[in-house]
Amino acid sequence: MVLTGNKPARELIDFYLEAGVDALLNEAPVDHFAEEPPPLQPAVRAAPAAAPETRFPAGPAPAFPQAPDAAVMEARSTAKGAQSLEELREILQRFDGCALKATATQLVFADGTPGARVMLVGEAPGRDEDLEGLPFVGRSGKLLDRMLAAIGLDRTQVYIANIVPWRPPGNRTPTPQESQICLPFITRQIELANPDILVCLGGPSAQTLLGLKEGITKTRGRWFNFDTGTREIRAIPTFHPAFLLRSPLQKRFAWRDFLAIKKALAAN
Ligand code: URA
Repeated sequence: MVLTGNKPARELIDFYLEAGVDALLNEAPVDHFAEEPPPLQPAVRAAPAAAPETRFPAGPAPAFPQAPDAAVMEARSTAKGAQSLEELREILQRFDGCALKATATQLVFADGTPGARVMLVGEAPGRDEDLEGLPFVGRSGKLLDRMLAAIGLDRTQVYIANIVPWRPPGNRTPTPQESQICLPFITRQIELANPDILVCLGGPSAQTLLGLKEGITKTRGRWFNFDTGTREIRAIPTFHPAFLLRSPLQKRFAWRDFLAIKKALAAN
């Protein structure tokens, strides 16, 4: 990292952290204005074997970024072809249409048990998830575990995934375009996992999956029908655990939603 002016290093690092720069890609800084291209350097972070070099491509240019429309079309046709969740994971590993793959450490596909009666879908992996390769393992994941435990469930009794399976840099919200590119994959994942109840964690998940325009405060706790492509199931939006960590007073509403889920499970 190059320190400029008289700014103390700590202040500059804080600034970078706040801006979402929380991972080191290379040991030496890069002068993007230099006339000569920088020499190739090994990435500091371990990248998955198949991941293309993201900063200094050595060979032919990587396949992405692809035109968004073409990426959505490719996502639709390849996701449809997946006959199992394992096949879907492999297809996603090879998919280059979402630029987030270039900055993420790895694909975060799912946790829990496929075929569980409840499937929860969040927004996108955060830093902890990106490092572990599993959804909801950070602070919000711990809260989610407690919410599930409150209705007698644990992670092995549900199936968990995200709309977008790669971490957006700095944990920003995925753009609508990124969500649309990844949508065919998560909808196929829901179809193949075949839950009875779909729980949308947070507004972006509910809006993307259920096509809702209203925000989560209006839609949480309401039941919707969701067509998996094979059958119609029930879906319920609720507050995202990360939001509940910031606004603990809202937990009572999430508690009501989880009780509604418990009741729906008992009814069938
Ligand atoms: N937030 C999400 O939406 N998903 C995760 O996996 C973790 C945090």
